[in-house]
Amino acid sequence: MKVDVKTAVLAIIIIAIIVGGTAYWYFYIGPGKPRVVVMGTSADFPPFEFVDEQGNIVGFDVDIAKYIAHKYGWKLEIKDIAFEGLIPALQAGEIDMIVAAMTITPEREEVVDFSIPYYNASQGVLIKAGNPDITTVEDLYNKKIGVQAGTTGEAWAEENLANYSEIIAYQRVYDAVTALVAGYIDALILDDPVATYYGNASADVEKASLVIDTGERYGIAVREGDTELLNKINAALDELIHSDTYYELIEAWFGGS
Ligand code: ARG
Repeated sequence: MKVDVKTAVLAIIIIAIIVGGTAYWYFYIGPGKPRVVVMGTSADFPPFEFVDEQGNIVGFDVDIAKYIAHKYGWKLEIKDIAFEGLIPALQAGEIDMIVAAMTITPEREEVVDFSIPYYNASQGVLIKAGNPDITTVEDLYNKKIGVQAGTTGEAWAEENLANYSEIIAYQRVYDAVTALVAGYIDALILDDPVATYYGNASADVEKASLVIDTGERYGIAVREGDTELLNKINAALDELIHSDTYYELIEAWFGGS
């Protein structure tokens, strides 16, 4: 059989189109395409989630999400949304899960589904460096108290301090810290591990002695009824929590505390 050059070239082109097209379909449209899972977080909460010097969102929660995504071969996307906007974004379908040091509460349980808990925390207090220590709840009376909008810290302050003090809610924790350093507020109530982090990281602020034992547990939130995603998250979390990797992550982000 004699094949002329034209026919051969044409055949090669046709084969290339078929192979290329199939590969494109498989990896970008079809079954080989990785599932994209969008994590929403409020990247103002070190060491759980914050923006590093390179502009990347990093932290303990990010590593947990990466671990889960890696287990299932998902492509993880991260959206930075002020904490108060996370549940609305989840409900609107803009994100698939919230990994944001979010405390499992009965009120939130009514609107989202939570994973098994993966971290415990209480509320702590941050003050400007050099200011008198705060050791009791009464020390917070007659002061300007900063909180992050939509958090359990805000709820605690509204419940316990509203009759005595002015409570000022900030969308972002870093703005609240700036306000503290500037003297606009006298104390900032936020999750204890984050107060510890800021106290160690900045010479301008100090962690007060008062720890408010709220017994909070963090969970990952998904849309109500998104059982398929929740089951996967729970299986991965359960595996992670009982592995050495979990202690390595704690060590890496909390220095063993
Ligand atoms: N644990 C607290 C809550 O659930 C505060 C969480 C704030 N998280 C954040 N990424 N800023 O309300």
